[in-house]
Order: sequence, then structure tokens, then C-alpha cells
Amino acid sequence: MKRTIGILTSGGDAPGMNAAIRAVARAGLARGFDVYGIYDGYKGLVEGNYYKMNKSSVSDILFRGGTILGTARLPEFVEDAVQMKAIEQMEKVGMDSLVVIGGDGTYRGAYDLSKKGISCIGIPATIDNDCPGTDYTIGFNTALNTIVEAVDKLRDTSASHHRCSVVQVMGNHCGDLALYSSICCGAEIVITPEVGFNEYEVIENLKEFDRQKKHNHSIVIVTEKLTNVEALAKKISAETSFSGRATVLGHIQRGGSPVPFDRLLASRIGDYAVEILANGASNRCVGIRSDSMISTPIAQALVQPKEFEQNLYDMLERLA
Ligand code: F6P
Repeated sequence: MKRTIGILTSGGDAPGMNAAIRAVARAGLARGFDVYGIYDGYKGLVEGNYYKMNKSSVSDILFRGGTILGTARLPEFVEDAVQMKAIEQMEKVGMDSLVVIGGDGTYRGAYDLSKKGISCIGIPATIDNDCPGTDYTIGFNTALNTIVEAVDKLRDTSASHHRCSVVQVMGNHCGDLALYSSICCGAEIVITPEVGFNEYEVIENLKEFDRQKKHNHSIVIVTEKLTNVEALAKKISAETSFSGRATVLGHIQRGGSPVPFDRLLASRIGDYAVEILANGASNRCVGIRSDSMISTPIAQALVQPKEFEQNLYDMLERLA
């Protein structure tokens, strides 16, 4: 019997999602699957908002940011009745398999549908790099690039004004964007959820920089949701010799054309997702580990905490 794959993107968009859609669609067609694109994540699946794809449906998207399928968050998808509606919509066109592209929330939906007999494969795509089962998520490297470009510019103006720039980056509960960008930009202080935020320590460190005449300006990179960066910048101005300024990079980090690393990663992961699906796999998420393609049971990925790279953090401290 001819098998049919549905592709959806869900959760926050990430640069490289389009490259992953292209890879799954083309690898699926090449292996003889029928392929459907589903609009707006699980919401579109429940509503039957999908269309049949051919090779040219995914032309000219490899290098585009965002997702041509649109994305949405559907908290109700935890409900059994909502999942059953999705399955009814799939049955209408004989869709027996799903490749879901997104983060852990996206994986949860695939896990539930797998338990109901749908073959599901998860592809990690989020700028946060917070998916276990892969060294890198699709989109992380592009977002990192965006942050590095922005912080390099902030450093120019901070240095000219003896300022301390406090830069808030995304990451949700994962500090990788802050940690990696701090290494790439030579940030003097990094604040991540894994290390924790201690305002007293930040202020004391800045005072020490000044006492030792160590830096005439400073960059502090902080993961979102840990503190109010405007308030922190004011405190820095009030209590240290630096004048503090806050910059929230916001959703600009999610946009832009994917860097080559993300295009390559999305293409490899998308192709591999179809390969394991064709070989009968289900309820697994794919990833890259030491430059090799791997897959992990989704259930394991959902409970496994993403490891924090303490070695990189320690190195940053040595190099600051
Ligand atoms: O998960 C990706 C992410 O960009 C997080 O870094 C951030 O916390 C969140 O999405 C923002 O979500 P929204 O698009 O709903 O503002």
C-alpha cells in the first residue's frame, strides 16, 4: 500500500524550517511516498487544512527564513478528542505518517499520536537548542549569528561611551544562545538559567573590573525570563562606574535566511527522517551527534534534560 506522509511545523518558527520541509518532501517523493503539507501545525491538522505536495511545491524555499507552512501553538492538542479529530482528518487522505518539525511541545503531540497508531518522526527545529537527542537544533546557528552581529555592533558603541550593555537573548529555559554568543563576542559576564542570576555578584564583578582597570566597557549577555534587563541596567548605572544600557534583541533572533550550517543540518535531518520512516520507525526524533545522524525514542527525549555544557562555561570564565 502506498504510504502518505504529512509534514507540519509547530511552535516558534526557526530559520531552516523551510529547508527541512523541502528535504522531507523531496526525500519522501523520491522514496515513493505521497506527501502533504499541513498548514499551521496541529491546528491545521485538526481542521484538515492540508494540500498535496509535488517537487515544485518546495522550490525556492531552501534559503528562506520562517516556514511556508505557517506555525501555531495548540495547547488543546493534549486532549484525546482533539487528537482523534486530527486522526480523522488524516484518514480522509490515507495519511499514515507524520513528520513534525519543531521543539519539545511539537514532540509531545507526535508522541500522543504515535500511541494511537500514527507513525511519527520529530525533527528538532527551534532557535533555543533545547532539544535532547541532538547536538544542535535547526535554527540555533542562524540565531547565534544574528546575536553575534548585533552584539559586535553594541560593543562599538559601549566601548566609545564606557558603558555596560546588558543584552537579553532568547532561549526559553536553555542558556545555549547566551553561552555560545558570549564566547563568540567575548562577553565579560553571561547569565543563564543553568548557572542562575545573582544580581549582587554581577554588580560586584563590574565594580571589580573598574577597580582593576580591567575593562573600560562591558557586555553582559542574559537569557530571557531571568531578570528585568532595564532594571538591571539602571542599577548598574547607579552602583558602578559604568553607565548601563539594556537591549532586548527579541524576535529578530528568529528571522532571517538560514546560515549554511542550518541548511545542511535541515537537509540531512529531513532526509534521514524519511529514511527511518521508510524502514518502519515511529515515535522517534532525529538529530545530529558528533556529525552523525541519530534517532532517539520521543519518550526518552521528552524526559531527558538537555545537558548544559559546563566545560564551555568554565572556558568562558577563563577567557573573560
Ligand atoms: O521557542 C522559541 C522562542 O523563540 C523562545 O526563545 C521564546 O521564549 C519564545 O519562543 C517566544 O514565543 P512567542 O513567539 O510566543 O513570543
